[in-house]
Formats: sequence, C-alpha cells, structure tokens
Amino acid sequence: MKTRTIITTFLAAAALCACGGPKSSDSKMDKFVSDLMSKMTLEEKIGQLNLPATGEIVTGEAKSSVGAERIKAGEIGGLFNLKGADKIREIQRIAVEESRLGIPLIFGMDVIHGYETVFPIPLGLSCSWDMEAVEESARIAAAEASADGISWTFSPMVDISRDPRWGRVSEGNGEDPFLGSQIAKAMIYGYQGRPGHQFETGEQIMACVKHFALYGGAEAGRDYNTVDMSRQRMFNDYMPPYKAAVEAGVGSAMASFNEIDGVPATGNKWLLTDVLRDQWGFGGFVVTDYTGISEMEVHGIGTFEEVSKRALNAGVDMDMVSEGLFTYIKGGLKDGSISMKTVDAACRRILEAKYKLGLFEDPYKYCDVEKAAKVVYNDEHRAVARRIASESFVLLKNEGGLLPLQKKGTVALIGPLANTAANMPGTWSVAAQHDRTTTFLDGMKETLGDKVTVLYAKGSNLTKDYDLEMRSTMFGRELGRDERSDAQLLSEALSVARRADVIIAALGESSEMSGESSSRSDISIPDVQKNLLDALLATGKPVVLVLFNGRPLTIEEEAAKVPAILDVWFGGTETAYAATDVLFGDVNPSGKLTMTFPKNVGQIPLFYAHKSTGRTLGEGEWFTKFRSCYLDVDNDALYPFGYGLSYTTFSYSPVALSSTEMTANGKIKASVEVTNTGAVAGKEVVQMYIRDVVGSSTRPVRELKGFKKILLQPGETQTVEFEIDVELLKFYDFDMNYVAEPGEFKVFIGGDSKTKNEASFNLS
Ligand code: BGC
Repeated sequence: MKTRTIITTFLAAAALCACGGPKSSDSKMDKFVSDLMSKMTLEEKIGQLNLPATGEIVTGEAKSSVGAERIKAGEIGGLFNLKGADKIREIQRIAVEESRLGIPLIFGMDVIHGYETVFPIPLGLSCSWDMEAVEESARIAAAEASADGISWTFSPMVDISRDPRWGRVSEGNGEDPFLGSQIAKAMIYGYQGRPGHQFETGEQIMACVKHFALYGGAEAGRDYNTVDMSRQRMFNDYMPPYKAAVEAGVGSAMASFNEIDGVPATGNKWLLTDVLRDQWGFGGFVVTDYTGISEMEVHGIGTFEEVSKRALNAGVDMDMVSEGLFTYIKGGLKDGSISMKTVDAACRRILEAKYKLGLFEDPYKYCDVEKAAKVVYNDEHRAVARRIASESFVLLKNEGGLLPLQKKGTVALIGPLANTAANMPGTWSVAAQHDRTTTFLDGMKETLGDKVTVLYAKGSNLTKDYDLEMRSTMFGRELGRDERSDAQLLSEALSVARRADVIIAALGESSEMSGESSSRSDISIPDVQKNLLDALLATGKPVVLVLFNGRPLTIEEEAAKVPAILDVWFGGTETAYAATDVLFGDVNPSGKLTMTFPKNVGQIPLFYAHKSTGRTLGEGEWFTKFRSCYLDVDNDALYPFGYGLSYTTFSYSPVALSSTEMTANGKIKASVEVTNTGAVAGKEVVQMYIRDVVGSSTRPVRELKGFKKILLQPGETQTVEFEIDVELLKFYDFDMNYVAEPGEFKVFIGGDSKTKNEASFNLS
C-alpha cells in the first residue's frame, strides 16, 4: 500500500494586481494611447464607447444601423456576436483602412463554455472541482475563438446563486464563494494567460467578469429581478469571486442588470468606481450588459438622457447596444453634467484594451482563416472536452452497484433527451454547430460498437404543455415535438424496454429550460417524463436515470425509487461519448455538487453555509414546535453541497492538526489520510470546511476553505494536508472591517459538506 503526502495549493492571487496585464510596459502604452487620443475628435472618442449589436451586418455591406458608414465615421468601438474569421476580417478592414484614424474594432462574443468545441455548462464544469481542467477548457475556448476572429469574451460569469429557480445558475459556478473564486481565477488564466504573461500569444483573448454585481441574488429566482442584501452578506458571500477575477488581472467587467441598494449596477458609482476601481484596483474597462443603460429608465431613476450621463459618471466605459453614451455625452459636456476628463478616461480604457490585445500592432491578428480551419473543433480539443465532461458528471445514486453497466446484452435508451444533438451543448453555446454534435443515442452506439445492442424510443415529449415546450426549446434547440399521443409514445417505449436487459432513461430539462430568462417556479422533472419513468420502473427491469439539467432539480420521488442516477448536466458537444464512458465504466465518476439539491421549492434558498438561528433544530430532527423548521418538510437537502458518489469507496482518518493553537501570524496544518477502500481506481474531492465558533457577528455553520482532488488506486492511501493561515479565517464584520477574530475554530475534512470528521483549534 502506497502512502503519499499532498499539500494543497491554490491558484495564488497575483502578488500585485495584474489589472488587465498589458503586455508592453505601461509607459509605452500610455504614450501610444496619449498620442492617438491627441489626434482624436470628440466624436471619435465617443465612438470608442459604443458597442452596438451586429444586427444584419454582413461582409463589406452596410445593411443595418450598424453599417459600414458608421464604422468609417468612427462611431463604433467594437462589435459582438459576429461569427467567422473571414467576416470579421472584412469588417476590421473597413475600420482600419477606411476610417480617419484607422482604429481597430474589438470583436466580442459570448464564448461561455467553449467555442465550437463546447465544454460542460459552467455549473457542470464546477462540479469537476478540477482547476486544471477549468483552466484548460478556457484556454481551448480562447484558442478556437481567437482563431476565428474573436478577441474578447463575455466570460467568466461568476455570480454566486443559492436559488435554483434562477435559470442562470447554469452559467455560474454554484453557491460557494471560495470555490467560485478559484474557478474565476482559473477561467481568466485560461482565457488571458497567467499574470505577467497575459496576451503574449495570439491565442489569448480578453475576459470579462460578469455580471457585476450580485446578479445571482435576484428575488424569487426571477431573472433580472431586484437584489437587496446586507453589506455583510454581499462582501462575505457574493463579492469574493468578482474580486478574485480582478486579482487575476481580468481585462474587463460587465455591469449587471439588477439594482444594488436601490441603484441599478449600471448607474451605481459606489459599485463601479469606489469598490471596483478604488478599493480593488481594477484597471480594465467596464461594459454594460445588453441595453443596461436604457433599462435604467424603466427602473425609474431618470430619463434616457439622465441615466446615460449617470452611467458614464458612475464608471461605465462602454455601452452595449443602448447608444445612450453615443447620443447624450455631447449634451452632457455642454451642460456640465459630464466632464471631458471622464470621457477621456473611458476612451483611454477602451484603447488600452485594444493595445493590450495587440490590435494596433496587427488588427488582423485574430483573423487567420486558415488557422481557424485547423484549430476550431479539432480532434485534440474534442478529446479534452470528452475527458472534462466525464469529470463533471455527478453520480447521485447507485443502489446495489447497478452502475457501471456491462458492455454486453441489450440496452433501451429512452427519453426526450436521448436523440437530440442541439440540446447536448447546453445553454449559451452560441458558436456550437448543431449538425456536428452527436446525439446521446448515436454516441452510445458508436462507442459501444457491436458489443451492446442499443434500442431507442422517445417515450414522451419534454412536457405535456405544448407552449411550455416551445418556450423551452428556443434558439435552434428544438426537440421535435412528437405529434403522437402520450399513450402511443409510452406504449412504443414499453415495447422497446421489454426487449432490453437494462433501461437508460434520458430525462430532465431541455437546454433552454435554464439559462437567461429561463426561471422556473417548479423545478421538478416535467409531468409526462415522470409518467414515463414510472412506467419504465414498473417493467421490473433495472433503470438508470441519466439526468439532463441546467440547475438542481427537485427529484425526491425519483431518488427514492430509481436505483441509479447520473447527473450529466449539459456536458457540451462531447456529452454522448463522455456519458457512455461513465455509464459503462471506462471512466469512474468523480464530480461533486457545487449547488445544493433541495427536496422541494419551498426550502429555497437552501445552502450549506447558512447561519445558525436562535431556534435551530437538533441534528436529525424534523419538526419541533417553536423551532426554525417547516410543518411539511425537514430542513435537509436531498443532496448536499459537495456530494457525489464513485464506483469505489473512500475512507477518511480522523482530522489531525499540527497544533491546536494558532497565533495571528502563524499557520497550522490540517490533514487526513484518505484510502480507496474499493476495487477500482477513483478520484475523490477532499473538502475542508471551517467554522468560526463565536464571532462578533454570527458566522456560517461551516464554510469551504480548501479542497483537493486526488486519484487513488485500489487500496492506496494518501495524506492530504491543508494549510490554515489567518487570511483563511477573515471575514467582514459589522463595521465592514476584514478581520480574523481570536477564539475557537472547528475544522471539518471529508467527502461532502455534511462530514462530521472534525477537530478544533484556538486562534490567539
Ligand atoms: C446577457 C449577458 C451577455 C450579453 C451579450 C445579455 O443579455 O445578460 O450575459 O453577455 O447579453 O450577449
């Protein structure tokens, strides 16, 4: 039996804030930008702040408001969501050759979880807890996007959310600020390069941390809704990932749609200037979200003219789509509500971004048509995407070791998600090519060859309600509504199921059931699919539920009756192969949840790092009068944060501390020995949580403060060690001081957030 010691290290914050990391010295950049700005007219400066949508723009033609004439006149600083190196090259040519000063445009896109090679949706990717994999996925996304003309991505989305009704939880990294911060850094390193080496190659693009800030705190989980929270919760739980992104040198930030303390983020000077720039030292540029400026009029804080000026004065540099800055800056300069200094500062930040990207040296740097053909969606990238997808899947249940399945006999693959290509990549995969994505059915057949006979039936539509299905399958993600009756679909499925040894039910959400503007008040598996599942279980054959979902679902009933459940989220273009790899044992699942699965919607928000009330329930209790609980459900999660099974088992030694006393400048080590007690090799995410037992303000019952993913062979033991220093124990107190308070701390180390494996130490 081998024993190795692993000391955990996290992606260290850059010692000095890289703040967009210019590749040349600042003074060289300053001089270049100053020289250029000295030649610019006011109109040209204002033009740099303008980011219209591409609309109908096509190569060399001016068809819409975003036409060649506007580019030639210098009225536009950048464009977004235009696809193809050839098209972008031609538009760039107009800017460079036909505008007065030849300033290149910046081309942005929502490259959220991959470009044409699509990786798991961010919520799924976060469940890998593998920071190297996260960074690699962003590096590949940047390599593909940059080859195809894109130099700027509206990613990473790092909004913490504890409300799975909100559809955009699929785009984030779950509920935890510590994990979210590590992922924010890994994504930015992947897109831009490591601090000190950012934008050195033509394969790195500028990241944009979004949505700043607190967008995931929307009331009732309804998209775009009001956010209202205490400063303590804001800075302890929601702000850390944005701050981590700034520390990692993110080049740009996107203001969020929501209000904060009664002022929409887009017009919130405290947020965009005092916190982001003055406190955190952000040196990049701020772009609004889509029509973020004009929407402030609807929020009710002023006319379009007033909110446009307010946005600029608050710290916005670039206006996505509203054209408010373009329209009203001149008037603001005249009436004194805007200063030339503010306009210059915004213009300078946009030009600096272009300079850092190397666009002034070579405006066509990102438009090499031949390179695009070689790099985009190549076999190497797809192989990585397949590996990473399989790391993101979470095995929720595996009664009697039903999984992995043997590669023999007959399998019935049944369900509305089994034979769709367009729904595999997941929401916000705008560059995905659906005709090149493999369906679950085809991928399974291809992977298993003639070893297993794979039968198929749709079994049911997505939902009984036609309109709901249409709303849930937009943007080319149609499922092809089957016009047969529910009974006919079911009867076909049962006749297929009866011929099989095992049934794989591919059920859950369509990809557009989560994502932007896809909030749900009922987050269960839709009606007709539940009926299908019951009928399949009634056959008496073993049933494996393969769950497709962009959010935690309420699956308490299914969890009670289905023997095996594998959550595959939306695993990207390679989902079909990766899911087959895991189901048939070529890959041992190792994902762990990054967002709590509640038992029902009424428990929401339900998250592991909650506070203790004065009337807390005892361990294992359900209802007690005059305690903080429900009459009709207990307080526990169906599946807690950090949970996930493997085809092997792991045992943990008790937590060992190098000392039970820690001084303010000292450090202690916490360690456990983890052993693979099963028969196959497997990866385990070892998680460390800390509880600050008594604080000047109440503290969460536990908080994630370290994790390490390790691979163990059968019988192998590794010692996993975490270093605890005072930084790890700090929090924002009542007066918003960032402090670690002396006293007792508990350390928990185990395989999920419920672990009882604990020890304690004292901070003096
Ligand atoms: C979304 C952003 C996105 C932008 C540009 C908005 O609706 O909120 O996340 O980056 O559109 O497509």
